[in-house]
Amino acid sequence: MLENLQTVAYIAASVLFIFSLGGLSNQETARRGNLYGMVGMIIAFVATAMGLGIDSDGILAGVVLPAAVVGMLAASRVAMTAMPQMVAILHSFVGAAAVLVGISNYLQPTSLTGAEATIHQLEIFIGVFIGAVTFTGSIVAFGKLQGLISSKPLLLPARHWLNLGLVLASIALGAQFMSINFSSGVSAGLPNAFPAGLQSLLIMTVLASILGVHLVMAIGGADMPVVISMLNSYSGWAAAAAGFMLSNDLLIITGALVGSSGAILSYIMCRAMNRSFLSVILGGFGSGTGVATPQGEQTTGEVQMITVEETVNRLGNARRVIVVPGYGMAVAQAQHPLAEITKLLRERGIEVRFGIHPVAGRLPGHMNVLLAEANVPYDIVLEMDEINPDFPKTDVVLVIGANDTVNPSALEDANSPIAGMPVLEVWKAATVIVMKRSLASGYAGIENSLFYKDNTWMLFGDARKNMDAILSKMVEQEAVSSLAASRS
Ligand code: TAP
Repeated sequence: MLENLQTVAYIAASVLFIFSLGGLSNQETARRGNLYGMVGMIIAFVATAMGLGIDSDGILAGVVLPAAVVGMLAASRVAMTAMPQMVAILHSFVGAAAVLVGISNYLQPTSLTGAEATIHQLEIFIGVFIGAVTFTGSIVAFGKLQGLISSKPLLLPARHWLNLGLVLASIALGAQFMSINFSSGVSAGLPNAFPAGLQSLLIMTVLASILGVHLVMAIGGADMPVVISMLNSYSGWAAAAAGFMLSNDLLIITGALVGSSGAILSYIMCRAMNRSFLSVILGGFGSGTGVATPQGEQTTGEVQMITVEETVNRLGNARRVIVVPGYGMAVAQAQHPLAEITKLLRERGIEVRFGIHPVAGRLPGHMNVLLAEANVPYDIVLEMDEINPDFPKTDVVLVIGANDTVNPSALEDANSPIAGMPVLEVWKAATVIVMKRSLASGYAGIENSLFYKDNTWMLFGDARKNMDAILSKMVEQEAVSSLAASRS
């Protein structure tokens, strides 16, 4: 009876997870998607806890309650700009769980024999391998996103050979591991707590951990988004492998959903960045070398500056405006005054639209979430491919804290570390106003020739402060014109 109930609950949770993914694929339904996911997870947790039996309740409560409190505190305190790091560290937990489940599963006495035992051993080996790569890779990704480790790629001379060597050594250890079945440890006189294959399993865990570190260390600045979504995918496969080891169908389904959606997202990101999937996995893309680009052209020229008043005038005289937000908008939390400015301009009959680069900010959909939070209408927020042809017909482009995603050197300088990456071609508009605090580089650490173009004007300063100043100037103008209208 309990088993049937659990099966029904697992099916319901799986369906909710699928609805959740469907909901998350669109801004308008994202909230609902999140809700489906949460309800699904509660059902899954309750059904699993009930299936464990009364004996485990104390242990479960002792583990889950403190973890839930820590998780809730961490999630409620994390700044939106630090969300990618949080996601990376959560992926590492999934990897660590798969490793621990695998090793403890192997140590546990089993009654399995023949083909079943072989399959179980294979599940353990593969699960631990994926888990270890995910664990250490995610920790390095966390370090890079948090700024604890340089975003510069670590390019060891024989890095591809090193990766190949680690994979081949793991396969050899796997063959050795598979040749020793569960019962042989006991028949060889070894205590069951230390089965004979454990040595191969542990050595492989160390090698896979080194592989995880090396794979992510070799990724440079601008390609981190692909790596994060790939680690997301790995964490899904690690969870699915843990599901096989524990014979838990829901974990298998959930893991496969996360694994495949992460793989699809990685593919979409690779296409958006014009990178091949394999080249990003193997590392070495994106230099993140700091200020001047040794591989790229040195950027020179005069920088033109603009004031808040002049910015307001140019916006007011425009017929078509495109806003391009980037990571700096998230840091400054400038989306709220921006939404007000957008409203005022539209009320004056000026066409205002937003252009969003697929990797703007620090996590997929980062800009969309912030704009939705500020109630910017969805239908004026367009993706890069949709808006790029419209820049030549645009009077003013307002770039707010975006840098790498609007860098012309991606298209104009074949030696640039971001060469070939599609960008928002803002410089094709009549006037470009860039709002940032200095001429400093963005995440990829490369100079931006946009700042030196004849039609580019820099409005230096914190984006929030400048947005507030633009808004109050516009409100002031509105008040003056409505007073004039009431007098005439
Ligand atoms: P970035 O190239 O990172 O540039 C952001 C700019 O914002 C900086 O140059 C900075 O210049 C400015 N800024 C920071 N704080 C500001 C503030 N308070 N007010 C005004 N400006 C401020 O941003 P992007 O164009 O959005 O590109 C995203 C980059 O991150 C890409 O390289 C992408 O590959 C990478 N990345 C993306 C993701 C995902 S999934 N989206 C994940 C990891 C990495 P100042 O210091 O001069 O102000």
